[in-house]
Amino acid sequence: MTPDDSRPEHDGTGQRDPAVVAALRALGCADTDRLAVDGVPVAELADRFGTPLYVFSAPTLRERARRVQAALGPRVELLWSIKANPSLAVTACLRGAGVGCEIASLGELLVAEAAGHAPASLRFAGPGKAAAELDAALARGLGTFHVESRDELDELARLAAARDLVAAVAIRVNLPSGLGGARMRMGGRSSRFGVDAEQVPELVLAIDAAPSLRLTGLHVYGGTQCFDAAAFVAQARALAEHAARWERDLGVAFDELDVGGGFGIAVFAGDPEFDLDAAGRGLAEVIAAHDRPGRRWFVELGRYLAAPAGVYLTRVVRQKVSGGEHHAALDGGLHHAAAQAGFGAIVRRPPLVVCADRLRAAAETPVTIGGPLCTPADRFAEQLPLPALLAGDLLALLHCGAYGLSYSPTRFLSHAAPAEVLVDGGEARVVRLRGEPADALRGQLP
Ligand SMILES: Cc1ncc(COP(=O)(O)O)c(C=O)c1O
Repeated sequence: MTPDDSRPEHDGTGQRDPAVVAALRALGCADTDRLAVDGVPVAELADRFGTPLYVFSAPTLRERARRVQAALGPRVELLWSIKANPSLAVTACLRGAGVGCEIASLGELLVAEAAGHAPASLRFAGPGKAAAELDAALARGLGTFHVESRDELDELARLAAARDLVAAVAIRVNLPSGLGGARMRMGGRSSRFGVDAEQVPELVLAIDAAPSLRLTGLHVYGGTQCFDAAAFVAQARALAEHAARWERDLGVAFDELDVGGGFGIAVFAGDPEFDLDAAGRGLAEVIAAHDRPGRRWFVELGRYLAAPAGVYLTRVVRQKVSGGEHHAALDGGLHHAAAQAGFGAIVRRPPLVVCADRLRAAAETPVTIGGPLCTPADRFAEQLPLPALLAGDLLALLHCGAYGLSYSPTRFLSHAAPAEVLVDGGEARVVRLRGEPADALRGQLP
């Protein structure tokens, strides 16, 4: 995060930014004045459940899953990256839409199981899986371990042998090309993530030699927030070509290829759109060139599936003029929606923010909006034109269904965590209870 950079770039049109319009369209609100989720005005939700509040739309989640699956085609098995939103209700909704699941911790394994996923169907990635985690996952019958180092592989072999089990292993490959176009890259050079391509043959042979391991395939995940469909396709092609070469050279078979994901979603005004159809067409070519009966292809997505289905609601608590500029202090902030406050961003731009009940009102009053935390970093936008704000007004941050609460420093300043609500069939229900001030003491000993 940049500590105190210059004024954000925005085009002065407030909610008419194309990314905001697209986000409203995804919720079916492009032509209305009141933001609603699955037909329920968010103002009603804020009155009923309080603010700050996360609201998730089950129909939007299903529609995202349907669209992505349609674009990627029937040969691709879609996986939900639960790290993007560990909500049980969201995970269960996506499972109901036919989406599998990949996990990165034991906690995520428990959420996935509670959402109805059989452990044998899950895939477990992550560069720092501890022995206890590997062992507990083996004990629960986890499906496939995405191994990221020789070290991990040897430990998994020992643990599986001790339990008289055979662990299914896919090697996560750190391809030299990486994932071009990704805002956050996780490979391509020296990396904690994945096994360098030139070291993969050594691991393949080690798996072959270990009776407690069974080689199932390869995995790549080179980065997140990728807005370049061609780069995603190139990465998939590179993985398939490496697989073909290693199969030929080493006499093994990779029955499963997980080609990653990381499709980008607008977080800030001016962000582009990921060309899903181009990704689908390109991947179809890769699959056509490298397919065979029984081979399974996976794509794993977090934010692209869930971000558009979530809204973060926050009210203006105080407003004032200082140094000739309008300021609004909100009841929500960085501690719940860190990404929207620019956490991890190099250049700060305003997030996709609207006045929930005045979507079409003229955005004529530049205002700096931020939360209740004691840091200048708790600021969503600086001098962003919005309709004039008064205490009690409701703001909505869009595209907040992924990397929201779980990606935020929730304990900073000990504010209670917001509730989460799922709307489905026009009915809203709480799916995560609101926290309370006394949570600040929970688990602490004098
Ligand atoms: C291995 C792996 N898979 C999937 C994801 C999900 O990425 P995204 O939410 O960008 O789709 C991540 C995110 O960091 C990841 O590390």
